[in-house]
Amino acid sequence: MIYGKRIRLRGVENEDLPQFVAWLNDPEVIANLEMYRPLSMAEERQWYEGMLKRPPDERPMVIEIPEGDGWKMIGNLSLMNIDWRNRVAELGIFIGDKAYWNQGYGTEALKLLLRHAFEMLNLNRVFLRVYETNPRAMRAYQKAGFVVEGRDRQGEFRNGRYWDVIRMSILREEWMSAEGQD
Ligand SMILES: CC(C)(COP(=O)(O)OP(=O)(O)OC[C@H]1O[C@@H](n2cnc3c(N)ncnc32)[C@H](O)[C@@H]1OP(=O)(O)O)[C@@H](O)C(=O)NCCC(=O)NCCS
Repeated sequence: MIYGKRIRLRGVENEDLPQFVAWLNDPEVIANLEMYRPLSMAEERQWYEGMLKRPPDERPMVIEIPEGDGWKMIGNLSLMNIDWRNRVAELGIFIGDKAYWNQGYGTEALKLLLRHAFEMLNLNRVFLRVYETNPRAMRAYQKAGFVVEGRDRQGEFRNGRYWDVIRMSILREEWMSAEGQD
C-alpha cells in the first residue's frame, strides 16, 4: 500500500469490479473520461484480465479513505504507457464516488502517485490529457504541480461537436523543487 495523510492506494481486486461498473455507467462520472457507452460486467471482467497481464507498474491503483474500522474505495488512478528509455508516463484518474469530489482527495492521490513515479520508478516526466470541459480536473492537476504544455485542437468529439484536449505535464525537477514546500 502507498499511504498518504488522508488516503491510501492499493491494488485492484476482483471484488472491486461491480463498483467500477456502477461508477463507469454514471453519465456524470464519465462526462470527461474516454468512455462514452454503457459498460457491462462481462466487459469489465475482460478489462480486469487484461489489466493483470499489463506490466505491474502500469496496473491501476484504488484510492481509499478511512471509514469506521476499515477503508472505503472512492476511485482509482494509474500510470499508463510507461516509456522506460525516455522515462515518461501518462497519468489517468477518476473518483467514482461523487460525494467525495472537491474535497482535495484527487489532488492528494495525484501527489502520492507522482511521488511514486519520481521517487520509486525514477521517471522524469508525467503527462496527462484533459478535456477543456473539465475545469475541476485541471485545477486539481495544477494544484498537484502540473502545467499546461499544449492543446490538441478539436481532439475529442462528444455531444455533437469537437472539443479541445489540454495536455499538462510535470517534470521530475519541478516535483523535486516543489517537494520542499509541502
Ligand atoms: C477530476 C478529479 C479527479 C478531481 O478530484 P477532486 O478530489 O474532485 O479534486 P480536488 O478537490 O483535489 O480539487 C478540485 C479543485 O477544482 C475546483 N473546482 C471544482 N469545480 C470547478 C469548476 N467548475 N471550475 C474551476 N474550478 C473548479 C475546486 O474548488 C478545487 O480547487 P480548490 O481546492 O482551489 O478550491 C475528480 O473530480 C473526478 O474524478 N472527476 C470525474 C472524473 C474525471 O473528470 N477525471 C479526470 C479526467 S482527465
